[in-house]
Amino acid sequence: MSLLSVLLHFFLALQPAVGAPTLAKRDADFESVNTHLDKNYNKKSAKQVDKYFHESTFNQHYDGRFGSASLNDEDRRSHLRALIQTWLSSMHDIGMETWLAHGTLLGWYWNRKIMPWDADLDVQISEKSMSHLADYYNMTVHHYKLPGVDDGRDFLLEINPRWLNASTADRTNRIDGRWVDTSSGLYIDITTLRHNETAEAEGIEDAMMCKDLHSYMYEQIFPLRETTFEGAAARVPFAYADVLTEEYGSESLSKTEYHNHVFDPDAMEWLPVHKDENET
Ligand SMILES: *[C@@H]1O[C@H](CO)[C@@H](O)[C@H](O)[C@H]1NC(C)=O
Ligand SMILES: *[C@@H]1O[C@H](CO)[C@@H](O)[C@H](O)[C@H]1NC(C)=O
Ligand SMILES: *[C@@H]1O[C@H](CO)[C@@H](O)[C@H](O)[C@H]1NC(C)=O
Repeated sequence: MSLLSVLLHFFLALQPAVGAPTLAKRDADFESVNTHLDKNYNKKSAKQVDKYFHESTFNQHYDGRFGSASLNDEDRRSHLRALIQTWLSSMHDIGMETWLAHGTLLGWYWNRKIMPWDADLDVQISEKSMSHLADYYNMTVHHYKLPGVDDGRDFLLEINPRWLNASTADRTNRIDGRWVDTSSGLYIDITTLRHNETAEAEGIEDAMMCKDLHSYMYEQIFPLRETTFEGAAARVPFAYADVLTEEYGSESLSKTEYHNHVFDPDAMEWLPVHKDENET
């Protein structure tokens, strides 16, 4: 039986902050979302006043409103696993069209799991689904009971108000949404697949893009394939091998040694390569 099927699930809307207008451009202010920290560990650059999402000063893969230090490898892995399982489960429940992308898709390709050295997670979402999330689910907190985790964990869905601006010139707002683990600050980056209007104006039909400068043809993505990832029901692009080859090169689908790990085809796992102690 899937662990997720026993997870409880409910929503708690956070009160939007009634703050000074200068706060409008950055992520929801610390005071309105703070759960357990004494201060906000997010970096704020005076140069990037339009940037909505912020990352922590200690590690770019953490949201400093919720985390104050990086987790060790084992804890990071289990927190990332819970992040993707809860995202997939929540989005499945409300019928959203989302699929695995980038390094997360590569992990799926090899063994349907997050690669052990991965520090982040990426998903993409259709424009219609993002529009629905922005309208009805922004700032919702989703509580999950997790095996071995006392009191479970809360996950925050936050949508960048600039997601509607499709301009790639909006450089600091290329991430459209985040699914944040409020216990650690780890998060999933969510980007919206849109029509490339420049290409369409040039008569190139079916050209799609994300604001983070990734380009696809419509038929590379759709129809999505139904699969599983980390034990949860998931979807991946139709032409996943094509998509991965374009992004990471054909080697990424065949080379079995990366980041001090080797892929063991019998175990179907990336196993750490332990250096012989006699070697220098
Ligand atoms: C989501 O909520 C935050 C906090 O209230 C707000 O700053 C942001 O603009 C909202 N996003 C959207 C898409 O409305
Ligand atoms: C979208 O973002 C770009 C770049 O920041 C900006 O120049 C433009 O005015 C924005 N468009 C809208 C409709 O807000
Ligand atoms: C959109 O299409 C134009 C014209 O074909 C192309 O130059 C540009 O790189 C595309 N943008 C993205 C983000 O795919």
